[in-house]
Amino acid sequence: MDRKVRWGILGAGSIAHKFATGFGGVEDGELYAVGSRSLEKANEFADKFNIPKRYGSYEELVSDPDVDAIYVATPHSFHKEHTILCLNAGKGVLCEKPIAVNAREVEEMVECARKNNAFLMEAMWTRFLPIYYKVEEWIEQGLIGDVHMVVADFGFRAGINPEGRLFNPSLAGGALLDVGIYVVSLASLIMKKPPAKIVSMANLGETGVDEQSSMILGYDEGQMAILYTAIRTNTKQEARIIGSKGSIYIPSFWNATTAILEIPGQEDQVVEIPHLVNGYCYEAQEVNRCIKEGKIESDRMTWEESISIMKTLDELRAQWGLKYPME
Ligand SMILES: NC(=O)c1ccc[n+]([C@@H]2O[C@H](COP(=O)([O-])OP(=O)(O)OC[C@H]3O[C@@H](n4cnc5c(N)ncnc54)[C@H](OP(=O)(O)O)[C@@H]3O)[C@@H](O)[C@H]2O)c1
Repeated sequence: MDRKVRWGILGAGSIAHKFATGFGGVEDGELYAVGSRSLEKANEFADKFNIPKRYGSYEELVSDPDVDAIYVATPHSFHKEHTILCLNAGKGVLCEKPIAVNAREVEEMVECARKNNAFLMEAMWTRFLPIYYKVEEWIEQGLIGDVHMVVADFGFRAGINPEGRLFNPSLAGGALLDVGIYVVSLASLIMKKPPAKIVSMANLGETGVDEQSSMILGYDEGQMAILYTAIRTNTKQEARIIGSKGSIYIPSFWNATTAILEIPGQEDQVVEIPHLVNGYCYEAQEVNRCIKEGKIESDRMTWEESISIMKTLDELRAQWGLKYPME
């Protein structure tokens, strides 16, 4: 493809606004269309971001022959249905995290991408932030020695709204699928394999979803990821990768612009890489690159890894007895 990738946005909600803002930092793509369940809402969104095509249904959006890629930005419980709608129309898809509610759904989506020869990637934007390439470079250079532990937390305090997507079991609510996935995905990025053992504990709140949990993922050679997450408690939202010779500290790890290399006996090395506009442009750049190269899968956020992460989330929920009504 020797022109810009033409994007459609499916669902004009909260994250879609941030993504469209971040798109200001994307050069090889253009925001071309938006689809909402309400034409009025689509028009409002399109006017705000200067988007030429606007549709009052998702079906009309996916039928536009000029759209190459669609960003699925609806609540978790609709990711599978909306992604499959796009893939069957031959569109590439960047689907918000978690890519689906459980591993079985992800497998179905991957099968559909294969069948349609269409691009599919989970929008785990954090791993495309430039600072993470630096972190991995330090690890590959052996600066912290062998990685022994990842310690990370992501908790925030939301007001309880039983109907909203954070607390509503019908929308696959709970901390784990909303923000716990960031700590699990970070562990997967750094350990580069699925855990062999999982130990965990959760507190299910008044709507029946996990309001906070802690988990230890154990790996074959003795490494561990020690993680916790919450939607009723503010936590530091930081990560530490601890090795045999030193460690890497990443403040605000899910949205990081800074990483600090800490080696005992040496001065800390601080690296800062500010975001272009915001952090959402990097995942879009990855999609553009893959689509322009004719690829249907990213090698930084592979289908296999999305399935593996979701299997970990499935196992955690099984340990807590948390099953969603649609399962
Ligand atoms: N990457 C990140 O940093 C980040 C941050 C926040 C959220 N997210 C993810 O993005 C997804 C959407 O989150 P959000 O906070 O943007 O949610 P939201 O604002 O509550 O909803 C997003 C949009 O989904 C559409 N939608 C379709 N069916 C719906 C239904 N039955 N109920 C509610 N909305 C429905 C609506 O768009 P229309 O009315 O226009 O059709 C709605 O505006 C979630 O999966 C979440 O995990 C990611």
